[in-house]
Amino acid sequence: MSEARRQQDLDEQLRELFGAGAQSEGPLAASGAGLRLTGVDLHPRLSPEQANFLLDVLSQFRIVSIAGQDLATFSLAHFERFANHWGAPVPHPNNFMRGGKPAQSDGASDGPFELIPFERRAVTAVNSAFPDQLQCLPHESPAVLVATNFRGSNKGGEPQVGHGGSWHTDIEYEPLPIYVSMFLAHKSPVARDAPGGHWVQDPDSGDPAELGPYYEGSDAELMRLRKRLPLNGETAFADTAAAFAALPAAEQEELMQVQLRRRLNEGDEGWLAPLVRVNQRSGVRSLHSPIWASRPRVRPAIEVEGMSAEASRALLDRLETHVLQPQFRYDHLHMPGDVTIWDNYMTLHNSPPIKSNISDLDDARLLYRLSCKGGPALSLPREDAPEWLAAHIAGSYTSPPEIIDID
Ligand SMILES: [Fe+2]
Repeated sequence: MSEARRQQDLDEQLRELFGAGAQSEGPLAASGAGLRLTGVDLHPRLSPEQANFLLDVLSQFRIVSIAGQDLATFSLAHFERFANHWGAPVPHPNNFMRGGKPAQSDGASDGPFELIPFERRAVTAVNSAFPDQLQCLPHESPAVLVATNFRGSNKGGEPQVGHGGSWHTDIEYEPLPIYVSMFLAHKSPVARDAPGGHWVQDPDSGDPAELGPYYEGSDAELMRLRKRLPLNGETAFADTAAAFAALPAAEQEELMQVQLRRRLNEGDEGWLAPLVRVNQRSGVRSLHSPIWASRPRVRPAIEVEGMSAEASRALLDRLETHVLQPQFRYDHLHMPGDVTIWDNYMTLHNSPPIKSNISDLDDARLLYRLSCKGGPALSLPREDAPEWLAAHIAGSYTSPPEIIDID
């Protein structure tokens, strides 16, 4: 089927399911990734057919942005209900303790699960930064991560620009990795007073040897590709499905056999996970987190089963260099009201250089993130078995009825 015909079919289906005002635009990236939908209101409950359509387009496009939700009516409860179609929402480690310790510190899955009360979470400090102008959407759910560049009032001094993060996928370091993550954008920075008309100046442009979050020992080309990050607060993506498809067939076959040993903490035995995943809906094959050390100093580096540590790093650094080439990259600019979903098995992402210590609302960046594990559900509530929840979801969290049944 031709690309134009495929797009026409998709638009017809979209209008049938979501009304005459619904439109699509894509692919957003040269690699074929990315679809933007407009005129799709996520505030009402989705029908199974609507949910199925959205699951299908994500399985083909890897990143789907459903633009223009009205933040006066679309609440974080609506957002979490929507997330339930993709998988079971996962409590974010910032929002709970394990055995009396912050859950993020070592990822240990033992010890009693204890929610951090809302008033002790970062959101309280976030709300005190621009008290009359910008407040987080109300929520209590432990699944919501508030991603922002401000908290508390500016204590004086100039804004600072941090390095971007390291390229990664979300929670790849657990036996059942997160498959879908999503952002709801509330506020994006609109100031463009840095050189070149950008929001920020590239923090690494002055010193190419600056390591940022990375370990020493990667070659110069890989470091250059890693640091080529967007400067307007966009989320940076790399398309690991297109990158896999671009490899020679013989290499694809070899990589299909590769198993990676992942560990939660140094010294653990860990477990084996496939490098290549096959999407069950679209049949699209992709590299899942083909990165030697995606969380430097937080999680152990991974090993290719049957290879030495050095050979593992060499293979994975070569794959990371391949995946981060410009033809597989896409920088997603967040607009308020956008719900942007990505498949972590088919993409890598990175946080951009971000301005902090801000005092101007034009510099504010405020996003809400939800992440999901397990299989999709066309109708809600989900019916995850208690044993499955106990094994994979911290505190066996499930979205309560007041979220699933919200009007
Ligand atoms: Fe992430």
